[in-house]
Parts: sequence; structure tokens; C-alpha cells
Amino acid sequence: MRPAVAAIVLAAGQGTRFRSDLAKVLHRAAGRSLVGHVLEAVRPLGLGQVVVVVGHQADDVAAEVAAAEVPGLTTVLQAEQLGTGHAVQQAVPALRQEIERVMILNGDSPHLTTPWLERLLEDATGRGGGMLTARMGDPTGYGRVLRDAEGTVSGIVEERDATPEQRRVTEINAGMYVFERGGLEAALAGLRGDNEQGELYLTDVVGALAEQGRPVAATATPPEVVAGVNDRLQLAEAAATLRRVHLRRLMTEVGVSVTDPATTYVDVDVTVGRDAVLLPGTILEEGTTVGPRAVVGPNSHLTRCRIGEGATVHSTRAVDAEVGEGASVGPFAHLRTGTRLGPATKVGAYVETKNATLGAGSKAPHLAYLGDATVGTDVNVACGVITVNYDGETKSHTTIEDDAFVGCDTMLVAPVTIGRGAYTAAGSTITDDVPPDALAIARSRQSVKDGWAARHRGVSTT
Ligand code: UD1
Ligand code: CA
Repeated sequence: MRPAVAAIVLAAGQGTRFRSDLAKVLHRAAGRSLVGHVLEAVRPLGLGQVVVVVGHQADDVAAEVAAAEVPGLTTVLQAEQLGTGHAVQQAVPALRQEIERVMILNGDSPHLTTPWLERLLEDATGRGGGMLTARMGDPTGYGRVLRDAEGTVSGIVEERDATPEQRRVTEINAGMYVFERGGLEAALAGLRGDNEQGELYLTDVVGALAEQGRPVAATATPPEVVAGVNDRLQLAEAAATLRRVHLRRLMTEVGVSVTDPATTYVDVDVTVGRDAVLLPGTILEEGTTVGPRAVVGPNSHLTRCRIGEGATVHSTRAVDAEVGEGASVGPFAHLRTGTRLGPATKVGAYVETKNATLGAGSKAPHLAYLGDATVGTDVNVACGVITVNYDGETKSHTTIEDDAFVGCDTMLVAPVTIGRGAYTAAGSTITDDVPPDALAIARSRQSVKDGWAARHRGVSTT
């Protein structure tokens, strides 16, 4: 725990280069907002306080960061975005008295990791502060790190303000710093907007400290750790990198088989169990969990789902659904919100479920719609069964009790209950409850007119 250290996360900018109606830091990469990624790197540090500076779409950004539930997190408003230095000026008054050191983090750098922040804190100890830097093959767009003859950091110059010679510097400022509180406050008070953008640059704090003989330490990181996201190209690259890192962790640390990582899209907040198999074309999103030995894919897209141990989910779209241990889903199933499939259930081809519970061992192997339904255990829902749950005005519930057998092409006009162990005959339209162990037939009787077809064609039958 680090009660005397605070983080200020800068998240007020619009992100002009995104050409978006959505604030930049709310754009998502691999299942998390850009600012959310930064907060996840901060969380394990156990800081005394985390202040997020919001401005553009302040309410939405504030809601997003509050949802992360990082202890000690508050937001401050930067009503006008007058630069990163100005943003920090808005946050400093919110710091509690016991805060001695202040980390400042750009909200648009989603690859940042906790160990690098720990290094940043460590390297800065006993110095005016510290910053993360990286050598970029192509430093375009970043502030360049300036060093004096002894190699000490003397300042940072933004690309727009740099001389041609300074632009050739490949060591860049990552936008991640830590400062002693007193030194930071003094330097912030001295910021001037005498640059090309007329903004108050936080980066000038680094130069000011160097001038006072309190230079900051520079911690060199690999370029991919600190890459910022300023446009949609970089967003796509960042998402790909984040997914690749997460998939690699699942393969090497958990023991998940991924047949083709290039076509497997797994959000960073998705967990997958040991010996699970992810087949090509699998998309796992938003906190989905996949149990050990489950097989998902090919071509399955799961959002906020829980897949039980040993289940298979083949060519399926599912949202807010639970699939029990050893269950079999698909190919071509659509599990909609509120689906709960018990252990060893089967939901097969062209079956759609919504707000439906299937008890252990129940099966709907082909072509069915189960909506607003409670299905007991060991029920057979045969081909073509439909819960008629909507009369154009209200949704009604269907209950099918344990061991029932719902025959092919049965329409269950809800509200209706099929009793335990009861049967319905194929082609029935069931409008009334069926008692336990009964057979319900609700269809017109077949009549056969001998020779009718032949006469119809005008051909003699003799
Ligand atoms: C900034 C740094 C640059 C560094 C780069 C690393 C400055 C002046 N420049 O440039 O040296 O190489 O990050 O990625 O700091 N923000 C606010 N309020 C504002 C302006 C920005 O909260 O008034 C926030 C943005 O939402 C963003 C972060 O600060 O999360 C950085 O702003 P951005 O405009 O992306 O700075 P860069 O030009 O990338
Ligand atoms: Ca940036």
C-alpha cells in the first residue's frame, strides 16, 4: 500500500484526431475503455488517492471511471481543455494533505502495466521526480526528451515546438511521471503557455525541475508499453496488441489451446480455464468466462456469458447467457439475454432462447424458440417447438415441468404449463395447461379422400 502517493489521470481531452462524437478515453480496446486500461494498471499499486481529470463529456467519463471501482478514486472537472499542465492544476487542490508524491498519467495509453509504474516510483526516489521514456523507431507526434552534455534530462519539447535537430531525437516522453508534491506545485504555478498551441504544458514541469537542479529520473521502457492512442489507427493497433498479450497469457500461464490466435478475439477481462479450446473465429467479450475443458468455436461470439466446464459452444451467438457444465450448444444457436442452460443440456441447430431456463439434461436439439420459459430437468423439446410468448401486447411465460416430452411442431401459447412427464402430440397448438403424465393432442383429425388426387388430375384410377 502507498497511502502517501496519489495518481492524477488526465482524461479531459476530446481527442480531435479520432474525429469522434465520443470522448477519446471512452473508446474501447480489447473490451475496456482507454482510461479503464490505465486505471487497471494503477489499481494494484494501492495508492492513497486517484484523481481523474474529466472535461470533454465529463459525465460519461466520470461514470466510466467510477464503474472501475478503484479505491480512493474521485474526479475533478477541467471545464476548458487548456493543456495537460492546466489539467493537473485543476487536480492538485483535490489532493489530500497526506499525499507526498504525485504520479501523473495520460489517460490514453492503454498498454501501461503495474510493474512499470512500480519501476517509475522506485527510480524517482530521492530525485525531483521521474518519467517513463522510450526509444521509438518513429517518434512522430511525441514530445522529445532533451538531455544535457552529461546525459541528464534537461526538459521535454513537443514536436510542434521542436527544432529540426530536436525532432531527430528518438527518445520520447511517455506522458507518465511522478513528482514530489511540493516541487510539482511550485512548477505548476510557473507554467506559461508560450508554445505553438498556447496551452499550459505539463511537460514544462520537467524542464523547470532540471533548472532548479532537481532533474527527474528517466526510466526507459520498451516502446510498446507506453504507446499512446491518438487516432483510430492506433486504437486498432492497441486493441490487437492487448488481445495478443492476453491470449499469450492464457496459452502460456493457464493452459488454454488457441487453434488460430489470428482469428480469435478475446477481451482482456475474459477468463478461460485450463485445457479449454478456442477454435478459429471465436470472439469472447465483456467478462465472459469459459470453464476448464470447454470447447468454444469455431465461429462463436459470446458477450457476458458463463460457459461451464467441459461445455461445447459451436457456431453460436450468445449474450448474457449461462451454459452449464458439459452442455452442448449449436451449431447455429442464438442464446439471448437471460438464457440459463443447466448441466448436460443440449441446445442444437437453429434454436433461439431468451429469458429461458433449461434444467439439467433437457434438450432442444433442433429448430425451436424458447422465450420466457422455464423448462425442468430431462425435458425433450422436439423439432419445431415454439413458445408463443407474445400476443402483440404482453409477454407471457411457459412452464414445462420435469420429464415432459413436447412433440414436434408444438405451439405453446403462453401462459401455459406442461405438467411433469406429460406429452404433447406433434403439431399441437396448446392453449390450456396439460396435467402431469397426460397426453395433449390439439390438432384437427386427418381425413383421407381416396382417389381425390387422381381425379383432380383428370386421370382414371381403373
Ligand atoms: C502528450 C505529451 C507528450 C507525450 C505524449 C505521450 C504534453 C504537452 N505532451 O502529448 O510530450 O509524448 O503525451 O503520449 O503533455 N488532456 C487533458 N486536458 C487537456 C489536454 C489533455 O486532460 O487540456 C489529457 C488527454 O485527454 C489525454 C492526455 O491528457 O489523455 C494527453 O493529451 P494529448 O493531447 O493526447 O497529448 P499528446 O499530444 O499525446
Ligand atoms: Ca496522446
